[in-house]
Amino acid sequence: MKAIHVGLLGLGTVGSGVVKIIEDHQDKLMHQVGCPVKVKKVLVKNIEKNRQIHIEKEILTTNVEDIISNPEIDVVIEVMGGVEDTRQLLIEALKAKKHVVTANKDLMALYGTELLSIATENGCDLFYEASVAGGIPILRSLVDGLASDRITKMMGIVNGTTNFILTKMTKLGSAYEDVLKEAQDLGYAEADPTSDVEGLDAARKMAILARLGFSMHVDLEDVNVKGISSVTDDDIDYSKRLGYTMKLIGIAQRENGKIEVAVEPTLLPETHPLASVNDEYNAVYVYGEAVGETMFYGPGAGSLPTATSVVSDLVGVMKNMRLGVNGRSAIAPQFEKQIKSPDH
Ligand code: NAP
Ligand code: HSE
Repeated sequence: MKAIHVGLLGLGTVGSGVVKIIEDHQDKLMHQVGCPVKVKKVLVKNIEKNRQIHIEKEILTTNVEDIISNPEIDVVIEVMGGVEDTRQLLIEALKAKKHVVTANKDLMALYGTELLSIATENGCDLFYEASVAGGIPILRSLVDGLASDRITKMMGIVNGTTNFILTKMTKLGSAYEDVLKEAQDLGYAEADPTSDVEGLDAARKMAILARLGFSMHVDLEDVNVKGISSVTDDDIDYSKRLGYTMKLIGIAQRENGKIEVAVEPTLLPETHPLASVNDEYNAVYVYGEAVGETMFYGPGAGSLPTATSVVSDLVGVMKNMRLGVNGRSAIAPQFEKQIKSPDH
């Protein structure tokens, strides 16, 4: 029984979780796909760095060609972040007929359409469940579970770092800077947390959700974005006194064939279900014409929750390999038409 060999790009918060789940859940993976799964090579920046996870040093490399040009590697998992260089690497990987799993929303929001078409041209899978809402299987739910319905609106909390910050400011009176530092230490924040606190990370996720939910192209520049960096202790105090909770809410809706996507700090009545989504947790309401209202809730950031989505994508790739249907079932929207929001 031939093992599936994985090349991992990145061994930080998410990459370490991926290695741990592949090791600890080997029996479950074997049961799912009928063969062993082995991490063959791991790309890092610094081989000498002290790591929280035990890994044999000879597996580590700083040369990406050890993965992309390695004929033994079947699947490339990208959990290193970055956009332009990473895009080139993944194009190279797909052209070398390697299936790709990524957690990179920045990349998928900007270049997802291009990368998905290169994947299809090369008969490869490109899965990206972890790019939105960490451990919540929201992308598959949209494209599979709700495939028969017409989605009208999606709304929720899709950034763990800002939800962590707002929760601690509201419940404990913690200072913004201190909680941001805590979120970074816990591995929730992006390498540059500006994208979290300015709402860009949430905007990218909402753009991905809108594309899949509405089957329409959404440009990032069409998303109205406001983050939480200007939220003060006084803002939080006043909202509490008035019986409201502040959350960074993303919303994507379609009306009369037009779509609008926005992210902004929003005051919710304390009784609103999203008001009780705390810490790094995310929740997304999806409204469908037939199904009505559904809500998806779970950890939106962090090592093992995010890695769960990544490794589940890997299982999806491996099942397709067994069936010989890779490249035909990527999480790819079939666009109804190109459309811009009413302001553009
Ligand atoms: P991280 O902890 O900063 O880890 C990044 C890893 O990539 C490190 O191991 C680093 O190597 C390696 N790396 C970065 N740039 C590299 C380069 N140019 N060449 C070689 N290696 C490089 O990041 P993370 O939090 O795991 O996030 C990874 C990706 O997952 C990002 O796209 C992020 O947006 C996404 N994501 C993260 C979460 C989360 O909760 N953290 C959730 C969902 C999605 P060294 O270890 O040697 O420095
Ligand atoms: N920085 C992101 C967040 C990681 O806080 O939600 C998960 O995508």
